[in-house]
Amino acid sequence: MKKFAVLVLLLAAAALPLPAVTVTVAVDRPGAAINPAMWGVFFEDINFGADGGLYAELVKNPSFEFPQPLMGWTVPAESGAVTTLTVKSDDNGGHCLRVEVAGPAGAVENEGFRGIGLHAGESYDFSVRVRHATAAALRVDLVGPSGAVLGSARLAGLGEAWTQRTATLVAWQTEGGARLRLTLEGAGAAELDRVSLFPHRTWKQRPRGLRADMVQALADLGPGFVRFPGGCIVEGSVLDRRYQWKKTIGPVEDRALLFNRWNAEIKLRPTPDYFQTFGLGFYEYFILCEDLGAAPLPILNCGMACQFNSKELAPLDGLNPYIQDALDLIEFANGPVTSPWGARRAELGHPAPFQLTMLGVGNEQWGPQYIERFARFATALRAKHPEIALIGAAGPEPADERFKFLWPKLSELKADFIDEHCYAAPDWFLDNAHRYDAYDRSGPKVFMGEYAAQSVAVVSPQNRNTWLCALSEAAYMTGLERNADVVRMASYAPLFAHVDAWQWTPNLIWVDNLHVMPTPSYRVQRLFARNRGDRVLPVALSGANVEETRRFYASSTFDDAAGEAIVKLVNATAAPATCTVELAGVRRVFRGRLTTLRADDTGAPLPCAPVDNAVLHEAEFAPAGPKFEIVLPAGSLSVVRLGVGR
Ligand code: AHR
Repeated sequence: MKKFAVLVLLLAAAALPLPAVTVTVAVDRPGAAINPAMWGVFFEDINFGADGGLYAELVKNPSFEFPQPLMGWTVPAESGAVTTLTVKSDDNGGHCLRVEVAGPAGAVENEGFRGIGLHAGESYDFSVRVRHATAAALRVDLVGPSGAVLGSARLAGLGEAWTQRTATLVAWQTEGGARLRLTLEGAGAAELDRVSLFPHRTWKQRPRGLRADMVQALADLGPGFVRFPGGCIVEGSVLDRRYQWKKTIGPVEDRALLFNRWNAEIKLRPTPDYFQTFGLGFYEYFILCEDLGAAPLPILNCGMACQFNSKELAPLDGLNPYIQDALDLIEFANGPVTSPWGARRAELGHPAPFQLTMLGVGNEQWGPQYIERFARFATALRAKHPEIALIGAAGPEPADERFKFLWPKLSELKADFIDEHCYAAPDWFLDNAHRYDAYDRSGPKVFMGEYAAQSVAVVSPQNRNTWLCALSEAAYMTGLERNADVVRMASYAPLFAHVDAWQWTPNLIWVDNLHVMPTPSYRVQRLFARNRGDRVLPVALSGANVEETRRFYASSTFDDAAGEAIVKLVNATAAPATCTVELAGVRRVFRGRLTTLRADDTGAPLPCAPVDNAVLHEAEFAPAGPKFEIVLPAGSLSVVRLGVGR
C-alpha cells in the first residue's frame, strides 16, 4: 500500500470515536463485607522458595546430611593434591566432615545455592562446629568466580572437643556467584559440622532469619493470609516424606532433613540438590504471618500421599496420629502457656497465641478416600475446636469430575471453605470471570487457594509471566471481588522461584542470589490487595462493545475508613475504549487517584522470563462530578479511587 493511503487510513482511524463502555456503580447499595484477609499468598518450598530462597542460610548441605553427604562441597583444584575429605559420624546420629591436609594448607569449598550472594559492605555471620583439630587455624574466605577473595576471617586455637566457632566477614564486592572456602592452615586435620553463613541483614535483623528483600516483597503486597507450607510437599511423594510440622520446630540442627518432592518431580527440570532442612519451619511461618499482619493458614497432611505420585493412603483406623497432629497444632498456635503445646510455643519465644482461625485438611486431594478422611478430621476437630474453620480440597482442577464429586460431598460435611485450584490458559480466566455469579450462597465459602494463568500449558517449562496472563488474572479477580460474599480468600501460585533453580513456571516473584524480580502478575495482585475495600458495590457494565467482545470487566468496593469508592476496570481487548463511569447515589466526588497497569508482551525472553515490564501509570484524579469519562487503554487494568459525598 502506498504511504499516502496508509496515512489516510491512520487519520481516519484516529478520527473514529473510541469504542464506548459504561459502568454504573451502585455506591448507594453497598453489599457484602469483604474479608480483610481476601487477598493472600501461598508459600511452598518449590523453586528454591525456602532452602536457597526465603530461608537466608547461604550454605547448601551445611551438616553433610544430604543422601550424598558431600553434595555442594568440593576441594578446589589447588588443594587437590594435599586434601582428603572423609564423611564421619558426628556421634550424635548425624554426619560431619573430616578434612586432612598433608601440605601447608588445604581447603574445601561450598557452592551455595547456585552460588552465594554477597552485597558489598555487608556483614555475613559465619559459624561452624569443630573438633579433633590439629591444624593451626581455619581460614574462612568468601571467594568470587575468578578466585578473588571477597571477604575473610581466621579462627585460631581450634580444639579437641566439639566447639562452636563464629566469625563475621564483610564482603567488599557485590557478587551473586561466590563460594565459601574453608582452609586449614598448617599440615593437620579438623572435623567440621553445621557450617553456616547468613547475611547479617536478615528480615527484622533476626539471627539466622529470612532473606530481607524477599520478605519485603511480601510485605509490599499486604497479604491478608499466608497459606503454608504447600502444596504437594505437604503430601509428600510417599507418606514417609510428608510434611510433619512437629519435626520443623525447635533447634534448627535437630530438624531432620527431608527429601523435597520437587527434587525429582518435574522430569524436564530435575533438581537433585533439593532437600528440606526446615530452617523455615512452622514456628517461623507463624512469626512471618505475624510480621506481615497476615492470618496463618496452615495446610496439613490428611493421611494421603500425593495422588500424582504414590497415592499412598494411611488406613482409616490409622488416622489418629494425623488428626492428633492437627489438634496439637491448634494448641501450639492458640493454647494457653499452661497447655503442653502452648508451653512449647512459649519456650520457643512466643507466649502470646498466634491467632490461628483456620486449617486446611489435605492439600489438593480427590476421590472418596479423601472424603472419608476429611470426615474423620472434621468430627475430631469440631468436637474440640469448633472455632477453627476447616478447609476442604476440591482437587487440582476447577470443573472436572473430581471437582464435581468433591463439592457436594464437602458441602454435606459442612466444610467452611472449599479450596479450588486452577492452572489454565489466559482464555479460561477471561471466560470464567462470572463463574461465581451463580454459586450457591448458602454452602461453603470458596477459597481460591492456587491459581495462575499459563501462557503455554500447565507444567510447561516454556510458560512465561506474560502481561496477557496477568491481565486475564485481573479480569478473573474482578469476578472474585464482585462475589466476595462467597469467595472469601484467594492466592496466586506458586509464590517464589529462583531463576537458576526453578522447577515450575510461571511464578509470582522471581529471585536470584542478589535481586527480587516482581512479575506483571505481582503488580496485579498488589493493586487488588492495596485497593481491597471493605464492602462490595454492585456494578453494571454496558455498551455494544461489551456484549460483542465479552472482554471488559469491572468490580467495585467501598473503603469505609477512607470514604472512597474503588472501581476496578479491565479492558482485555486490543483497542482502547472510552469508559463512562457513573457513581449512583453520589452527589459530590473529591480528589482521588487513577492507576493504570499495562504492558507489552513482545520481546519477553524465554523461557522463564522474570519480566517486570508492566507499566504503572499513577496520577491524581479529580473529575467534576459523579459521572465522568476515562480512557481504558488496550489491554489494561485501571483502578479508580474517589472520595465520595452523598
Ligand atoms: O503450585 C504448584 C503445585 O500445584 C502445588 O504444589 C500443588 O498443590 C499444585 O498441584
